[in-house]
Amino acid sequence: MKPLIAANWKMHKTAAEAEAFCRQLRQMEEEFNGVEVLICPPYTALTAVHNALEGSRIKLGAQNMFWAEHGAFTGEIAPSMLREWGVEYVILGHSERRHLFGEDDFLIRKKLEAALSHGLKPILCVGETEEEREKGATEKVLEQQLCAALEGLEQEKPGEIVIAYEPVWAIGTGKAAFPADAENAAVWIRQVAARHLPEEAIKALRIQYGGSVKVENIAEFIALPTVQGALVGGASLEAATFGRLVIAAREAVSR
Ligand code: 13P
Repeated sequence: MKPLIAANWKMHKTAAEAEAFCRQLRQMEEEFNGVEVLICPPYTALTAVHNALEGSRIKLGAQNMFWAEHGAFTGEIAPSMLREWGVEYVILGHSERRHLFGEDDFLIRKKLEAALSHGLKPILCVGETEEEREKGATEKVLEQQLCAALEGLEQEKPGEIVIAYEPVWAIGTGKAAFPADAENAAVWIRQVAARHLPEEAIKALRIQYGGSVKVENIAEFIALPTVQGALVGGASLEAATFGRLVIAAREAVSR
C-alpha cells in the first residue's frame, strides 16, 4: 500500500501562487515513485491546480465540502461541484473545522456519507485536544469521533477511506507527537474502524499522521507499521520543502 503524503494548504495561496507551486513541484516528480502525493488547495485554486497537474500523477483534493446536492446553503460547495473540478480526495472534520467553525460529529458523518456516495475519497480527521490528552482521554475521544463517523456505514459498501490522526496540540505548534504515541493511536484507530467497516475497506484503509510533520521527522512517522502517510500543513507551502519531504518519505518506505 502506497503511503499518501497530502499537502493541506489551509487558507494559503492564490490561484497564481498555486500554479507556480505545482510547476516547481512537478520538476521533482520523478523522485516521488512509491508515494502517492496529494495537494489540497483552497477552493479558489482547485481549477488552477487541476490544470497545472494535467499529465501528472500528483492528485487533487479539497479541504472541505457540504453534504447536500444543492440548495439554499450560502457559501457552501457540493460534492458534485468538487467532482467537476477533478477532485479525488476531500478532507473532512479537520480540527480547525471542528474547533473554529463548530463542526460536530453529526455534520461530519453526513459529509462522509455524501463524499462516499459521490465517489470522493474522504480523509477523515480525528484527534484529541491537549486537555483531553492530559486527562488520559485520547482513546475515548478517538473512539467517539470514529464511531460517530463510521457506525452503520458497513451496509453502504464504503469505498476508499483515509483516516488522519491529528492531535490538536501538535497542529502548527512545532511539537509533533512522539512516533510511539502516533503508532498507538493508529493501532487504536484501526481497531475501532474495524468494528464498523467491512474487511475490504479495512484492508484498503490508510492512516495518516498529521501535526508538525517536517522534512526532518517524516521518516520516523512513515516507518511506523500502522501509519501509511502524513497530512502536512506548514511544511507543504513551499514546493522545494514539500518535495524534499515526499522524497524523505519515499526513502523511508524503501528502507
Ligand atoms: P501543521 O503541519 O502545520 O502542523 O498542520 C497540520 C495539519 O493541520 C494538516 O492538516
